[in-house]
Parts: sequence; structure tokens; C-alpha cells
Amino acid sequence: MSLLEEIEAAKNAAIERLQSATDAEALEAWRIEYLGTKGLARQIMQRLKEVPREQKPAAGKAANELKNELQDAYDKARANVATPKRAKNAIDVTLPGKRPAIGRRHPISQTIDELIEIFARMGFSVAYGPEVEDEIHNFHALNIPLAHPARDPLDNFYINPEIMLRSQTSTVQIRVMEKTPPPVRIIAPGRVYRPDTVDATHSMMFHQVEGLYVDEGVTMIDLKTSIDQFAKAYFGPDIKTRFRPSFFPFTEPSAEVDMTCPICNGDGCGVCKQTGWIELGGCGMVDPNVFESVGYDPERYTGFAFGMGIERMVMGKHGIPDLRLLFENDVRFLHQF
Ligand code: DAH
Repeated sequence: MSLLEEIEAAKNAAIERLQSATDAEALEAWRIEYLGTKGLARQIMQRLKEVPREQKPAAGKAANELKNELQDAYDKARANVATPKRAKNAIDVTLPGKRPAIGRRHPISQTIDELIEIFARMGFSVAYGPEVEDEIHNFHALNIPLAHPARDPLDNFYINPEIMLRSQTSTVQIRVMEKTPPPVRIIAPGRVYRPDTVDATHSMMFHQVEGLYVDEGVTMIDLKTSIDQFAKAYFGPDIKTRFRPSFFPFTEPSAEVDMTCPICNGDGCGVCKQTGWIELGGCGMVDPNVFESVGYDPERYTGFAFGMGIERMVMGKHGIPDLRLLFENDVRFLHQF
């Protein structure tokens, strides 16, 4: 077989094989075999030197034509193949997007936001005070005498005899009344510190929300209504509250508030220790001595105050059995809120 005949045969075979190369991969394999640097077209070019002199022009022309025809055929086939090779790794715009991992607010922060909103609807604004406090605001102005057990160094984080980490948000009552003449209607959420041994219900740092409403003619009915409305707004309309007589130095009379357990609806469960009730906090009518310490006229003004534990609210609402879960910052826990 002469080289010319060989070229003709190879061309027909190549074109025929190209018909069956219908995807990008087969097409690429075909290109390498026939048009690659070691492909058939090149091999034939190299063999031109073996051809006798008088046949060279014709053979050279045929070899060139072979290369051009194969290249044309390849270009056409390639244009018809839907996905060129690199599309394998290209972006599929029809896929659903990847969600970036965004953080979220801690359940305690979420609860504080909710508290602020609920009390704002009742006309309360928000006040904040320092966490490093003096003895005057934490005790003295709140009518807590020097010998009172609440001042015990074992129950407080003293920095020196006058300065401490606040043990209650009641401090903010004093700070607000010192600066603002009545009427006053505020809540004060924030951290408080007590050197308790950490367990499922105690922590050395926790959160309270304080409330204070002072004006002419504020009564205990206003107190009970505000707390009951708050409990229904935060926990649900079926929640009931009850007030038990108690004692706090800064209120007279004083009460402790319970609400029906939102987990079992008052039937008794693990969260409420089978009692059906959960303690919300303390409250009462502001003691006249407190008014005197901030320069309010106790003959003219009355007011109520309350202080509630925020962790307890979060735990009661979501049925969280252990306080420590709120401070360990395990994302598997936090992600559920
Ligand atoms: N400060 C109190 C505590 O930490 C809670 C409290 C009770 C706050 C009665 C009040 C109140 O404002 O009137 O135990």
C-alpha cells in the first residue's frame, strides 16, 4: 500500500470513528489519537521523508489535506457536544445555595430582648447600671442595714469594703431615682454576681430583671396586674400567678411571685419539682426609707418594684433542666433557640 492509499484509508477510518465520539471525553481521546503531538496526522508527516522524490508533492499535499480535514471534522464535532470538558467542574446555577454559618443571639439575650419589648408595651423604658457597684447602691440606699446577713462577705464579691460586684439589679432603682424626678417607670435587665457553688440551679453570675414604677397613687393592684400581664405575655395566656407574703428590706409590704409551671400547666413535673408552681421573683411596694435615700417625697409618691431571675424564665419556658447549659456555650445546645 502506498502512503497515498494509506492516507485515504486512515482518513475514512478516522472520520468514521469520530461519529461515535459523542461526549467531551471521547472527543478528547479522538483528538489525541489523530491530531495530538504524537497523533496519526503527525506520524504521516514524518513518514513523508521515506517517500520517493517524484511522489513527494502529491503525498505532501495529501498529508496536509488529511490534517486539515481531520481538524475541521473535529471542530464541527466539538461544537455539537453540549458540555465541553471543563464544564465538569463549572458552577451548576440550578443547585440550591449553600447557607453561610451565621451565629445567633444567646437564649438569655433573646429573652432580655423579649422582656424589654413586653414591658415597653406597658410603658416601661430600659435602664442600665454598673456591674461594679458601691455598697451604698447595693445595700445602704436600699434600706439594708449594716448588720444584715445579705452583706456577708461570704455571699458577695467584695473588691474592698466599699466596692463590690453587684449582687442584685435593685441597685439600678437607686441610680435611676437619684437622677430622675418621678414619675419613673423602668426595667433594668443585667448580670449579678454571688459566690454560690455552681450546680444545676446556681451560678456565680446570673441575670435579673428589675422593675420600678413610681408615681402618685401607684398601688399593689398595679404591681399584681403588671406582673400577671408580663407572665401571660411571655409564657402564654393560660399562665396564672400567685403572690405570697414575704420580706425584703426595700419593699413594704413585700411578696414573692410564683407562676403556674409552663411545662406541665400546673399539674406537677420535674421542672417544677411536682409542685405545679415556679418561683418568678420578689416584689413589693417601695419602702419609704428608699424614697428618702434618693430624695423622693414618700408622702406624695408610692411605687412598686420587682426583681426576677432571667435564667429561671428561660429554663421554665424551654424546659431546660440544668442552668449550666446556658453558660457552657455548646453550639449544639445554643442552636436550638
Ligand atoms: N433584689 C432581690 C433579690 O435579688 C429581688 C427583689 C425583691 C427585687 C423585691 C425587688 C423587690 O425589686 O421589690 O433577691
